[in-house]
Amino acid sequence: MSTQPSQDRIIIFDTTLRDGEQSPGATLNGDEKLTIARQLARLGVDIIEAGFPFASSGDFEAVQKIAQAVGTEAGPVICGLARATRQDIETAAAALKPAVRKRIHTFIATSDIHMEFKLRKTRQEVLAIAEEMVAYAKSFTPDVEFSPEDAGRSDPQFLYAVLERAIAAGATTVNIPDTVGYTTPAEFGGLIRGIKENVPNIDQAIISVHGHNDLGLAVANFLEAVKNGARQLECTINGIGERAGNAALEELVMALHVRRQYFNPFLGRPPESEKPLANIDTRQIYKTSRLVSNLTGMFVQPNKAIVGANAFAHESGIHQDGVLKHKLTYEIMDAQSIGLTDNQIVLGKHSGRNAFRTRLKELGYELLDQDLNRAFLRFKELADKKKEITDWDIEAIVNDETQQAPEHFRLELVQVSSGNHSRPTATVTLRTPDGQELTDAAIGTGPIDAVYKAVNRVVDLPNQLIEFSVQSVTAGIDAIGEVTIRLKQGDRIFSGHAANTDIVVASTHAYLNALNRLYDAALEYDKPLHSQLGEPAVVTASAATKA
Ligand code: KIV
Ligand code: ZN
Repeated sequence: MSTQPSQDRIIIFDTTLRDGEQSPGATLNGDEKLTIARQLARLGVDIIEAGFPFASSGDFEAVQKIAQAVGTEAGPVICGLARATRQDIETAAAALKPAVRKRIHTFIATSDIHMEFKLRKTRQEVLAIAEEMVAYAKSFTPDVEFSPEDAGRSDPQFLYAVLERAIAAGATTVNIPDTVGYTTPAEFGGLIRGIKENVPNIDQAIISVHGHNDLGLAVANFLEAVKNGARQLECTINGIGERAGNAALEELVMALHVRRQYFNPFLGRPPESEKPLANIDTRQIYKTSRLVSNLTGMFVQPNKAIVGANAFAHESGIHQDGVLKHKLTYEIMDAQSIGLTDNQIVLGKHSGRNAFRTRLKELGYELLDQDLNRAFLRFKELADKKKEITDWDIEAIVNDETQQAPEHFRLELVQVSSGNHSRPTATVTLRTPDGQELTDAAIGTGPIDAVYKAVNRVVDLPNQLIEFSVQSVTAGIDAIGEVTIRLKQGDRIFSGHAANTDIVVASTHAYLNALNRLYDAALEYDKPLHSQLGEPAVVTASAATKA
């Protein structure tokens, strides 16, 4: 795979682990990032922006791990973000070192409002910094991307000048961010056309686009950009990201796939060409979406295009009748093309470890022995309760077992009593970080409320529960329930996720999962954070002394 591909295909640059992780509450630990990076490689993305190494030591280590494990000869390019400063660039270069192909992505704002109020720099100063820092990045790797932040609101003439200088200094990709999600499709397409026509050395670089979804226009903007010469799309799985998120990878890829006859001519191909426009294995889309949703705790809305639960469901009688007579009456794409299989019943009570391992392999999971053992035990427990185990059940178990939130507080027991003539009461026993086993009980408005109150009596980490959702993995009364919660402490949001056939147990695990992340963040308190990433969490003295 070359870092400087030809202009007749679309390069997919995934920033789920960098911009996506900037979603409030989407904080991932290093192992979770690595799990996602491996899946992004299976999906076939060209470039993984693995993080912002200067932002924190956690980010640095995650980028380094991904560079080592995923940035192989056959793997994607691994990219690290860096502000246009020497320290940021050196830190990114150090983190990326193990990758076979590495990219440094450096940026500086070019809109008047950012330069005046945020950077307090003149246009001349920004021009000089861009040139100098691109050249500096180039001294570490031949693959350098430059972004003029807030390009969507920058003066086009100034933008052309900055891009020309950045390319002359060695940028091989120039990325045009609509940082605040302000532009409309016609404007964004026009901006790309203007760059193509007015930057004299633009043929020496790939034009990339990056956009936020504040007005819900990011994907439409990108497709217009493609028509006008953009060849790299920066996107995230499920469209997660800062504020309203980034352009969604699955929407872009499927739009280009389903409408390739429309887009082909813009890439110099005959309309009827069947050659894929991007290198993505679309059958990995659904799995990647669920993995990212589970690990980040960012729930996918049911009506979300491509990956929402209802995206392929036909409710009205007229539609169902039409689809039965001929699929294409109401379906523009096949559910199987995104990897939504028929949810086959694959395993049962008598299936052994080998059958389980084989099915996992077929589903694309290669687990370490210890993870496989834990997942197999969970599978056996489930098979005792549920006659037919489907691929989705298996994925729920694996996602749950491979979630890497540290277990500072561990659930030993949860027990509830509730009913229409009793007060919901819960008892919990937890193992604390110092090895004590503590039990407490509470009464709540419902069984889950009672459990959470009982947990709070043991774990003294003040927080506000802001979101709680239960989703069934498959149909049927014996289905696995997946619980996703988000809680808030100060400005920071922490998510938790767990799956179990008993939703009280799943809810307790999900809550502890989020509390453990909060506790973990408190332990990271002393590590430097870039201002984009918010303030560190506050941990109470009593909780801290329990560590
Ligand atoms: O939105 C933005 O401008 C960014 C840049 C760092 C590319 O994320
Ligand atoms: Zn962004």
